[in-house]
Amino acid sequence: MAISHAPPKDWDDVDAWDEFHRHRLELRKPIEIAKREISHYLRYLRAFAPMDRVWFPGCGISLFPAVLATFGLNVVATDTAEVAIEFQQRALDLLPKGGSWLDQAAREVEPMPMRHDAPKFGASLQDFRDEPAGQNFDAVLNIRALQGLTGHSLESACECHFLALKPGGFAVFETQNVQGERRETLEQALLDAGFVIPLVESERWYRHAAQATGIEHAFVLGNPIPIGEQRNDDEAREVLRGLFEEYQTLRELEFERTKPLLEHSNTKIAQLIYNTG
Ligand SMILES: C[S@@+](CC[C@H](N)C(=O)[O-])C[C@H]1O[C@@H](n2cnc3c(N)ncnc32)[C@H](O)[C@@H]1O
Repeated sequence: MAISHAPPKDWDDVDAWDEFHRHRLELRKPIEIAKREISHYLRYLRAFAPMDRVWFPGCGISLFPAVLATFGLNVVATDTAEVAIEFQQRALDLLPKGGSWLDQAAREVEPMPMRHDAPKFGASLQDFRDEPAGQNFDAVLNIRALQGLTGHSLESACECHFLALKPGGFAVFETQNVQGERRETLEQALLDAGFVIPLVESERWYRHAAQATGIEHAFVLGNPIPIGEQRNDDEAREVLRGLFEEYQTLRELEFERTKPLLEHSNTKIAQLIYNTG
Protein backbone atom coordinates (compact mmCIF):
# COMPACT_ATOMS: atom_id res chain seq x y z
CA MET A 1 0.00 0.00 0.00
CA ALA A 2 1.33 3.48 -0.90
CA ILE A 3 2.14 5.58 2.15
CA SER A 4 0.64 9.04 2.13
CA HIS A 5 3.03 12.04 2.21
CA ALA A 6 0.32 14.69 2.24
CA PRO A 7 -2.15 15.49 5.02
CA PRO A 8 -5.44 13.61 4.56
CA LYS A 9 -8.06 15.17 2.30
CA ASP A 10 -10.60 14.64 5.05
CA TRP A 11 -9.13 16.22 8.18
CA ASP A 12 -11.63 14.33 10.32
CA ASP A 13 -10.10 10.99 9.22
CA VAL A 14 -8.09 9.88 12.27
CA ASP A 15 -6.64 6.71 10.66
CA ALA A 16 -5.27 8.78 7.80
CA TRP A 17 -3.55 11.12 10.29
CA ASP A 18 -1.95 8.11 11.98
CA GLU A 19 -0.61 6.98 8.64
CA PHE A 20 0.64 10.49 7.85
CA HIS A 21 2.57 10.68 11.15
CA ARG A 22 4.01 7.18 10.76
CA HIS A 23 5.44 8.22 7.42
CA ARG A 24 6.90 11.47 8.77
CA LEU A 25 8.55 9.60 11.61
CA GLU A 26 10.24 7.38 9.04
CA LEU A 27 11.62 10.56 7.47
CA ARG A 28 12.93 11.70 10.89
CA LYS A 29 11.24 15.10 10.68
CA PRO A 30 10.59 16.07 14.33
CA ILE A 31 13.91 17.73 15.25
CA GLU A 32 13.92 19.92 12.15
CA ILE A 33 10.38 21.01 12.88
CA ALA A 34 11.18 21.93 16.48
CA LYS A 35 14.19 24.06 15.47
CA ARG A 36 12.17 25.98 12.90
CA GLU A 37 9.29 26.53 15.27
CA ILE A 38 11.37 27.93 18.08
CA SER A 39 12.83 30.71 15.98
CA HIS A 40 9.44 31.36 14.44
CA TYR A 41 7.65 31.69 17.76
CA LEU A 42 10.20 33.59 19.84
CA ARG A 43 8.53 36.93 19.27
CA TYR A 44 5.12 35.61 20.36
CA LEU A 45 6.53 33.94 23.42
CA ARG A 46 8.40 37.07 24.40
CA ALA A 47 5.42 39.33 23.74
CA PHE A 48 3.12 37.32 25.94
CA ALA A 49 5.53 36.48 28.78
CA PRO A 50 5.03 35.90 31.62
CA MET A 51 2.79 32.92 30.99
CA ASP A 52 2.57 29.45 32.40
CA ARG A 53 0.01 27.01 31.00
CA VAL A 54 0.07 26.27 27.28
CA TRP A 55 -2.09 23.89 25.25
CA PHE A 56 -0.94 22.37 21.94
CA PRO A 57 -4.07 21.01 20.25
CA GLY A 58 -3.28 18.81 17.22
CA CYS A 59 0.35 18.55 18.35
CA GLY A 60 1.22 15.78 15.87
CA ILE A 61 4.85 14.67 16.10
CA SER A 62 6.28 18.12 16.73
CA LEU A 63 8.90 18.36 19.48
CA PHE A 64 8.00 21.98 20.08
CA PRO A 65 5.59 21.25 22.98
CA ALA A 66 8.31 19.31 24.83
CA VAL A 67 10.83 22.07 24.12
CA LEU A 68 8.56 24.64 25.75
CA ALA A 69 8.15 22.37 28.77
CA THR A 70 11.93 22.33 29.22
CA PHE A 71 11.84 26.16 29.08
CA GLY A 72 9.68 26.13 32.21
CA LEU A 73 6.15 26.21 30.81
CA ASN A 74 3.41 23.86 31.93
CA VAL A 75 2.50 22.17 28.64
CA VAL A 76 -0.41 19.97 27.57
CA ALA A 77 -0.14 18.36 24.11
CA THR A 78 -3.13 16.61 22.57
CA ASP A 79 -4.10 14.97 19.29
CA THR A 80 -6.67 12.51 17.96
CA ALA A 81 -3.95 10.39 16.36
CA GLU A 82 -2.51 7.63 18.55
CA VAL A 83 0.82 7.65 16.70
CA ALA A 84 1.20 11.32 17.62
CA ILE A 85 0.49 10.77 21.31
CA GLU A 86 2.78 7.73 21.56
CA PHE A 87 5.49 9.96 20.09
CA GLN A 88 4.76 12.83 22.50
CA GLN A 89 5.05 10.47 25.45
CA ARG A 90 8.70 9.89 24.45
CA ALA A 91 9.33 13.48 23.35
CA LEU A 92 11.23 14.76 26.41
CA ASP A 93 13.74 11.90 26.02
CA LEU A 94 14.26 12.71 22.35
CA LEU A 95 15.44 16.28 22.97
CA PRO A 96 19.17 16.98 22.72
CA LYS A 97 21.01 17.30 26.03
CA GLY A 98 23.35 20.15 27.17
CA GLY A 99 25.25 22.58 24.93
CA SER A 100 22.92 22.29 21.97
CA TRP A 101 20.75 24.64 19.89
CA LEU A 102 18.17 24.08 22.59
CA ASP A 103 20.26 25.89 25.26
CA GLN A 104 20.83 28.75 22.86
CA ALA A 105 17.07 29.02 22.23
CA ALA A 106 16.38 28.85 25.96
CA ARG A 107 18.64 31.89 26.53
CA GLU A 108 16.84 33.79 23.80
CA VAL A 109 13.35 33.36 25.25
CA GLU A 110 14.14 35.08 28.51
CA PRO A 111 12.24 36.62 30.34
CA MET A 112 10.22 33.41 30.13
CA PRO A 113 10.11 31.57 33.43
CA MET A 114 13.24 29.44 33.28
CA ARG A 115 12.60 26.81 35.90
CA HIS A 116 15.07 24.02 36.36
CA ASP A 117 12.88 21.47 38.08
CA ALA A 118 11.35 18.55 36.17
CA PRO A 119 9.48 19.75 33.05
CA LYS A 120 5.70 19.80 33.36
CA PHE A 121 4.51 18.03 30.26
CA GLY A 122 1.44 15.91 29.57
CA ALA A 123 0.28 14.32 26.32
CA SER A 124 -3.06 12.66 25.73
CA LEU A 125 -5.56 11.64 23.09
CA GLN A 126 -8.18 14.31 22.64
CA ASP A 127 -10.51 15.58 19.94
CA PHE A 128 -10.65 19.36 19.84
CA ARG A 129 -14.11 19.34 18.29
CA ASP A 130 -15.31 18.24 21.74
CA GLU A 131 -14.47 19.56 25.19
CA PRO A 132 -11.20 21.46 25.64
CA ALA A 133 -8.22 19.67 27.22
CA GLY A 134 -8.58 21.97 30.23
CA GLN A 135 -9.46 25.56 30.98
CA ASN A 136 -7.70 28.77 31.85
CA PHE A 137 -4.74 28.19 29.56
CA ASP A 138 -2.60 31.30 29.14
CA ALA A 139 -1.94 30.37 25.53
CA VAL A 140 -3.07 27.91 22.89
CA LEU A 141 -0.69 27.12 20.06
CA ASN A 142 -2.50 25.47 17.19
CA ILE A 143 0.17 24.84 14.60
CA ARG A 144 -1.29 23.86 11.22
CA ALA A 145 -4.04 21.86 12.91
CA LEU A 146 -7.10 23.97 12.08
CA GLN A 147 -6.99 24.95 8.42
CA GLY A 148 -8.33 21.70 6.93
CA LEU A 149 -11.48 21.59 9.05
CA THR A 150 -14.77 22.62 7.52
CA GLY A 151 -18.40 23.21 8.48
CA HIS A 152 -19.49 21.99 11.88
CA SER A 153 -16.02 20.56 12.71
CA LEU A 154 -14.45 23.97 12.20
CA GLU A 155 -17.13 25.70 14.23
CA SER A 156 -16.83 23.27 17.17
CA ALA A 157 -13.04 23.41 17.08
CA CYS A 158 -13.04 27.22 17.29
CA GLU A 159 -15.47 27.17 20.23
CA CYS A 160 -13.36 24.57 22.00
CA HIS A 161 -10.17 26.63 21.59
CA PHE A 162 -12.01 29.71 22.87
CA LEU A 163 -13.26 27.90 25.97
CA ALA A 164 -9.81 26.58 26.78
CA LEU A 165 -8.30 30.06 27.15
CA LYS A 166 -8.37 32.23 30.23
CA PRO A 167 -9.77 35.76 29.76
CA GLY A 168 -6.88 37.83 28.46
CA GLY A 169 -5.23 34.75 26.92
CA PHE A 170 -4.12 34.35 23.34
CA ALA A 171 -4.30 31.66 20.72
CA VAL A 172 -2.03 31.35 17.71
CA PHE A 173 -3.29 29.55 14.61
CA GLU A 174 -0.51 28.85 12.16
CA THR A 175 -1.62 27.92 8.65
CA GLN A 176 0.16 26.77 5.52
CA ASN A 177 -0.78 27.98 2.03
CA VAL A 178 -4.21 29.25 2.97
CA GLN A 179 -5.32 31.98 0.58
CA GLY A 180 -8.38 33.97 -0.45
CA GLU A 181 -11.82 32.89 0.67
CA ARG A 182 -10.44 30.19 2.91
CA ARG A 183 -8.84 32.91 5.07
CA GLU A 184 -12.22 34.62 5.41
CA THR A 185 -13.83 31.33 6.46
CA LEU A 186 -11.22 30.60 9.11
CA GLU A 187 -11.25 34.13 10.49
CA GLN A 188 -15.05 34.30 10.55
CA ALA A 189 -15.27 30.98 12.44
CA LEU A 190 -12.85 32.34 15.06
CA LEU A 191 -14.71 35.65 15.34
CA ASP A 192 -18.02 33.78 15.69
CA ALA A 193 -16.53 31.74 18.54
CA GLY A 194 -15.78 35.00 20.38
CA PHE A 195 -12.12 35.66 19.55
CA VAL A 196 -10.79 39.10 18.73
CA ILE A 197 -8.42 39.12 15.76
CA PRO A 198 -6.10 42.15 15.66
CA LEU A 199 -6.49 44.28 12.51
CA VAL A 200 -8.93 41.86 10.94
CA GLU A 201 -10.84 44.55 9.02
CA SER A 202 -7.87 46.18 7.35
CA GLU A 203 -6.49 42.78 6.37
CA ARG A 204 -9.86 41.95 4.80
CA TRP A 205 -9.90 45.27 2.99
CA TYR A 206 -6.43 44.51 1.56
CA ARG A 207 -7.53 41.08 0.35
CA HIS A 208 -10.72 42.42 -1.24
CA ALA A 209 -8.88 45.34 -2.87
CA ALA A 210 -6.31 42.94 -4.35
CA GLN A 211 -9.13 40.69 -5.57
CA ALA A 212 -10.88 43.66 -7.19
CA THR A 213 -7.82 44.38 -9.39
CA GLY A 214 -8.55 41.15 -11.28
CA ILE A 215 -4.83 40.27 -11.12
CA GLU A 216 -4.10 36.67 -10.23
CA HIS A 217 -2.12 36.93 -7.00
CA ALA A 218 -1.11 35.31 -3.74
CA PHE A 219 -0.33 36.95 -0.40
CA VAL A 220 3.30 36.37 0.53
CA LEU A 221 4.67 37.84 3.77
CA GLY A 222 1.47 39.86 4.12
CA ASN A 223 1.43 41.48 0.69
CA PRO A 224 -0.15 40.51 -2.65
CA ILE A 225 2.18 39.55 -5.49
CA PRO A 226 1.21 38.50 -9.02
CA ILE A 227 1.33 34.78 -9.80
CA GLY A 228 0.54 32.58 -12.80
CA GLU A 229 0.71 34.26 -16.19
CA GLN A 230 1.20 37.70 -14.63
CA ARG A 231 4.05 36.52 -12.41
CA ASN A 232 6.66 38.63 -14.22
CA ASP A 233 4.36 41.47 -15.20
CA ASP A 234 5.81 44.71 -13.75
CA GLU A 235 2.59 46.63 -14.33
CA ALA A 236 0.55 44.08 -12.35
CA ARG A 237 3.14 44.21 -9.58
CA GLU A 238 2.86 48.01 -9.46
CA VAL A 239 -0.95 47.93 -9.32
CA LEU A 240 -0.85 45.59 -6.34
CA ARG A 241 1.92 47.61 -4.70
CA GLY A 242 -0.23 50.72 -5.13
CA LEU A 243 -2.71 49.36 -2.58
CA PHE A 244 -0.15 49.32 0.21
CA GLU A 245 -0.38 52.96 1.29
CA GLU A 246 -4.13 52.92 1.82
CA TYR A 247 -3.84 49.59 3.59
CA GLN A 248 -1.25 51.05 5.97
CA THR A 249 -3.50 54.03 6.76
CA LEU A 250 -6.47 51.74 7.43
CA ARG A 251 -4.32 49.56 9.68
CA GLU A 252 -3.22 52.51 11.77
CA LEU A 253 -6.79 53.75 12.13
CA GLU A 254 -8.07 50.29 13.04
CA PHE A 255 -5.29 49.86 15.57
CA GLU A 256 -6.22 53.10 17.34
CA ARG A 257 -9.93 52.28 17.25
CA THR A 258 -9.58 48.72 18.58
CA LYS A 259 -6.77 49.31 21.09
CA PRO A 260 -9.09 49.38 24.13
CA LEU A 261 -10.62 46.04 23.11
CA LEU A 262 -7.25 44.45 22.37
CA GLU A 263 -5.95 45.53 25.75
CA HIS A 264 -9.08 44.63 27.71
CA SER A 265 -8.46 42.02 30.40
CA ASN A 266 -11.35 39.80 29.23
CA THR A 267 -10.40 39.71 25.57
CA LYS A 268 -9.23 36.44 24.04
CA ILE A 269 -7.02 37.15 21.07
CA ALA A 270 -6.57 34.92 18.03
CA GLN A 271 -3.50 35.59 15.95
CA LEU A 272 -3.38 33.96 12.52
CA ILE A 273 -0.10 33.20 10.82
CA TYR A 274 -0.31 32.64 7.08
CA ASN A 275 2.74 30.78 5.83
CA THR A 276 3.32 30.11 2.17
CA GLY A 277 5.64 27.70 0.47
C1 LIG B 1 -0.87 19.14 9.78
S1 LIG B 1 -0.81 18.28 11.31
C2 LIG B 1 0.12 19.40 12.32
C3 LIG B 1 0.79 18.71 13.47
C4 LIG B 1 1.70 19.59 14.33
N1 LIG B 1 0.97 20.64 15.00
C5 LIG B 1 2.84 20.13 13.52
O1 LIG B 1 2.91 21.34 13.37
O2 LIG B 1 3.68 19.38 13.06
C6 LIG B 1 -2.45 18.45 11.96
C7 LIG B 1 -2.68 17.68 13.25
O3 LIG B 1 -4.00 17.91 13.72
C8 LIG B 1 -4.50 16.71 14.28
N2 LIG B 1 -5.96 16.79 14.30
C9 LIG B 1 -6.81 16.86 13.25
N3 LIG B 1 -8.09 16.94 13.68
C10 LIG B 1 -8.03 16.93 15.04
C11 LIG B 1 -9.01 17.01 16.07
N4 LIG B 1 -10.31 17.08 15.77
N5 LIG B 1 -8.61 16.98 17.36
C12 LIG B 1 -7.28 16.90 17.66
N6 LIG B 1 -6.31 16.83 16.74
C13 LIG B 1 -6.68 16.85 15.44
C14 LIG B 1 -3.95 15.63 13.34
O4 LIG B 1 -3.95 14.36 13.90
C15 LIG B 1 -2.55 16.18 13.10
O5 LIG B 1 -1.66 15.70 14.07
